Amino acid sequence: MTSDHWRKTNALPQVSLSELFESDGNRVAKLGFEETGLYFDFSKTHLNSDVVQAFTELADDLGLSAKTNALISGESINVSEGRAAEHCAERGVGNPASVENARALHQRMKSLIEVIDSGALGEFTQIIHLGIGGSALGPKMLHQALKLGDEKYELAVVSNIDGSALEPVLERFDPAKTLLVIASKTFTTAETLLNAQSVVDWMREQGLDDPLGQVVALTASPEQAVKWGIDETRILPFSETVGGRYSLWSSIGFSVALALGHDVFADLLDGAAAMDQHFQDTPWENNIPVIAAFADQYYAQVRGCQTRAVFAYDERLGLLPDYLQQLEMESNGKSVTIEGEPLSLHSSPIVWGGVGTDAQHAVFQLLHQGSHLVPVEFLAVVEPGDSLDPAHHNGLLLNCFAQGAALMAGKNSDDSHRNYPGDRPSVTILMEELEARSLGALLAFYEHRTFVNAVLLNINPFDQFGVELGKQMANKLAADDGNRLDESTEELKKRAFGP
Ligand code: F6P
Repeated sequence: MTSDHWRKTNALPQVSLSELFESDGNRVAKLGFEETGLYFDFSKTHLNSDVVQAFTELADDLGLSAKTNALISGESINVSEGRAAEHCAERGVGNPASVENARALHQRMKSLIEVIDSGALGEFTQIIHLGIGGSALGPKMLHQALKLGDEKYELAVVSNIDGSALEPVLERFDPAKTLLVIASKTFTTAETLLNAQSVVDWMREQGLDDPLGQVVALTASPEQAVKWGIDETRILPFSETVGGRYSLWSSIGFSVALALGHDVFADLLDGAAAMDQHFQDTPWENNIPVIAAFADQYYAQVRGCQTRAVFAYDERLGLLPDYLQQLEMESNGKSVTIEGEPLSLHSSPIVWGGVGTDAQHAVFQLLHQGSHLVPVEFLAVVEPGDSLDPAHHNGLLLNCFAQGAALMAGKNSDDSHRNYPGDRPSVTILMEELEARSLGALLAFYEHRTFVNAVLLNINPFDQFGVELGKQMANKLAADDGNRLDESTEELKKRAFGP
C-alpha cells in the first residue's frame, strides 16, 4: 500500500543538514555521483539512508523497475494516448525495431545536412528555425550552450506568434541565404504555421521565385508538411512515439546539427545513451535520476515545497531553466493518477530559476530568508567558456559554491532582520566541461528524473491535455460565429479589436 509508505516517510525524524553532516563523515562520498563528465552532489539535501530506504520501498512497491523496462522497451506506457514514449530509442537504447527506425531517420537527416553543406540547395548561411514548446526550447538551449561563435551558419530560433519576435530576424537576414526550418511534431500548431507563412511571404516579397524550395520540415506528421507544400525530400520525419518535450534527440535537433555540425549532435546522443544505461543498470541507491527524484518527492510531499529553483552558473546554460520548465511541468503537472483517479499528492513542483550570479542580486533574498522552503539546484562548469582574466570564472564558481554553503549553514543573529535560518537544501551539478556528450547525459538525467517522479506519483508524464483548452478557446474567440465567451473576455476583445 503506497499510503503506508508515505505515512512511514512522513513519520521519519526530520534531521537538520548540519546534524546529517556531523553524524556521517562519509556523507559527501555517499551522496556524490559521477557520470559522463558530470558530478552530482546531493549531500546538501535531507536525504539519508532512512529516507532513501523508505523511497526505495515505495519505488519497488510502485514497480519502478518494471515501469523503467516498459519505458525503454517501447511498451505503450502513455496509456491515455495509447502509445509508447520512445525518446531513448533516438539515442540507440530500446526496442530494436524502434532503434533501427530512429537510426535510419538520423541517417536521412545526416544526408540532408551534407547536401545543404555542399551548397546544392543554395548558398545558405542563415537558418530560421520555427517551432514552439518542445520544438523550440531544446534546439535554442542547445545552440546557446554549445555554439563557439565561428560557425558557418547563423541560427535564429523563433517561437512566439508575436510578430516582434520574427520581425527583427527578417530585418537582419538575407532571404536568398536563408534556410527556413519548420519544426512541429503535429504540423498544426498555430504559432509555428503563421510564422512559417510570414517567412515564406517575406521571401516572395523580397523577389525569390521558389521560397518553398528553401524549406525543411521536421515533423511526425509528414503528410501535413506535404499538404503545406514542402517537398518530401526536405521533410525529416520522426516517430509519433517521441513526445514534443522529449524530441530534441530526433530530427527536431536538425537545425542544431546543421549549425554546430553533425558530430556534435552525435556526441549529444552518445552522452544521453550513457545516462540511459546508468539509469537502467544502477541500483536505486546509486542511481542518479532516482536519487534526484527521491529528493524531489521528499521535499514536495514531506516538506510541502511547491517550487524548485534551478540556477545555471554559466551564461551558456541560461536557457536550461526554460527547457526544464516544460520538461517537468508539462510532464508532471497533473491532478489525476494514471488510472484517472484524483491525485492525493502534490504534482510537479513549479520549476523556476535563472542564471548566477545575476539571480543572487534579485531573488536569493527569498531563498535565504523567505518563509518558503525552496530546494535549489546549482549547475556550474569547471572549464571556463571565456578567455578573460580567470578572476571572472573563479568568481563565478566561488559564488555558486558559497550560495549552497550559506543556504545550508545559515547564520544566527540576535537581530532577527539579520538572522539566516539555514538548513535550506541544494543540489550541485558540476560539469567538467560544457560539451555535447556531458550535456546529452545531463538532459537524459532530467528526463529520467521526471519519469521516476511520475512513477512515484503514479501519473502519466507523457500526455499534456492541459494545454488544449486554451487553444480551443483561442479558436472560439477568433471565430466570428456569434458564440460568445464570458463577459470579461468579450470586453477585453472589444477593447482590443473594437465592437
Ligand atoms: O501546446 C503544447 C505542445 O503540444 C507541446 O507539447 C509541444 O512541444 C508544442 O506544443 C509544440 O507542438 P508541435 O511540435 O506539434 O508544434
